[in-house]
Amino acid sequence: MSSSAPRARDSWSGQTGFLLAAIGSAIGLGNIWRFPGVAYSNGGGAFLVPYLVALVFVGIPMLWLDYAVGHKFRGSPPWALRKVIGGGEFVGWFQTFVCFVIMVYYGAVLAWSVEYTIYSVNTAWGEEPTSFFTDSFLQVVDGTTFSWAPAWPVMIPLALVWILVLLVIGRGLSKGVEAANKIFLPLLVVLFLALVVRALFLPGATEGLNAFFTPNWSSLANPQVWLAAFAQIFYSLSVGFGIMLTYASYLKPKSNLTGTALVAGFANSSFEILAGIGVFSAVGFMAHQRGVAMSGVEGLSGPILSFVTFPKIISMMPGGPIFGVLFFSSLVLAGVTSLLSLLQVVSGGLQDKFGWSPPRSALVLGIPATVISLALFGTRSGLNNLDIVDNFINSIGVVSSAILFALLCALAGPGLSGLRAHLNSVSSVKVPKLWEHLVGIVIPVVLFVMMTMSLVALIADGYGSYRQSFVMIFGWGSVLVAILAALVLTFVPWKHRRVNPHATVARILADEGAESALGEGENE
Ligand code: ALA
Repeated sequence: MSSSAPRARDSWSGQTGFLLAAIGSAIGLGNIWRFPGVAYSNGGGAFLVPYLVALVFVGIPMLWLDYAVGHKFRGSPPWALRKVIGGGEFVGWFQTFVCFVIMVYYGAVLAWSVEYTIYSVNTAWGEEPTSFFTDSFLQVVDGTTFSWAPAWPVMIPLALVWILVLLVIGRGLSKGVEAANKIFLPLLVVLFLALVVRALFLPGATEGLNAFFTPNWSSLANPQVWLAAFAQIFYSLSVGFGIMLTYASYLKPKSNLTGTALVAGFANSSFEILAGIGVFSAVGFMAHQRGVAMSGVEGLSGPILSFVTFPKIISMMPGGPIFGVLFFSSLVLAGVTSLLSLLQVVSGGLQDKFGWSPPRSALVLGIPATVISLALFGTRSGLNNLDIVDNFINSIGVVSSAILFALLCALAGPGLSGLRAHLNSVSSVKVPKLWEHLVGIVIPVVLFVMMTMSLVALIADGYGSYRQSFVMIFGWGSVLVAILAALVLTFVPWKHRRVNPHATVARILADEGAESALGEGENE
């Protein structure tokens, strides 16, 4: 075994730093561009019922599981899951590479948002935001063609985004990620509140809100609506694929886990509902200006909502450029804190396994990530590649990693009762026994149904109107790459080990005072 000197594992400066980072990770692009459209098309106000059920019975329990495993074993997913059961390391690396795949395209959407913040100043999209977005900005080729030609308006901000986030990650957890969240998250809240208040005073805002909140109760009988709610909660809370586990692993031993998870979960959902209010007030204004009913408005989901519909709204509005800068810079701030959390999973995994410093991990992961991100998402096929990879890695990669994670924790290691005891030994809010049934049975079953439905649809119908080979390479390929990379890393020997995972909670608590002096680890 290697004899490299042990390196102290970084930690949050306190509970607040962790909470801000956890909320920063959860609040992301998904809150602003995904939630409003998903809610609107799945029953409007009635969607809040399955959504809140999903938050309380799936989101928070999974968040508690992530926190329990990360905190108890005090390591990134490969380390922590290896401590649950030897082969669990593979699941940990799979989660890590799912994060890697997500981050390479997530950075691209961030780059679009950066560029659109600048475009907002003079409404550079002109009279035709749709063709501006696809033809002038993304310069996208059709779905049956592949192009390596750079789309420079994307390529340049994308390179800058990577330089920025790698510099932050290279500074380490407390000096980098925590410091960035302490600036970006409060700034996001201020800017976004200003945007929502402005939107609420626009003519037509009430019609927009009526359309958004008017419940279509019959939708509750539709299983797809429930699945949409579960999927939204998963994506939005960043649970079950390593992020929250990693963040919790840097908490001090005496940390209130469950209470913090409740605050993070409800803060994220509150922001999401706020985003729905802001977005639909603005869309109501557009309908009002055009003299059409809300039901006639299109383009209310995904990238189109943010990069086509919003530019149209901004162009119609008095003071539109300011509103545009607020909207797109909110996307940038929300996205950057989520991207940092994805990066930290990979960086933390490399640091744990190889004993590397944060700058070295940032470099080793940053070079391939930047190259892949620029080559696949900064080029003229970028939008098509992004759409395919996003669909597959979320509907298969994220969901399967969460199923494996929950089952592993239920069946091996300390088991769910051991993890519940861990949570309860350090937390204010006590976890009821029901949690074990939710995590061990209900959640894996729900997720399995979700994934099976996605798989059946993808196998039967393919995906989109893309050429089949592109779907194979970028869709199925992205999942396969995550599996293969996880296998390789699992078989690479550990260069650096720490002893803490075997410590009991009591021992950890007793050790707390000595922790920093001991550097928290030693080689085996
Ligand atoms: N939770 C992050 C988001 O909502 C990934 O975008």
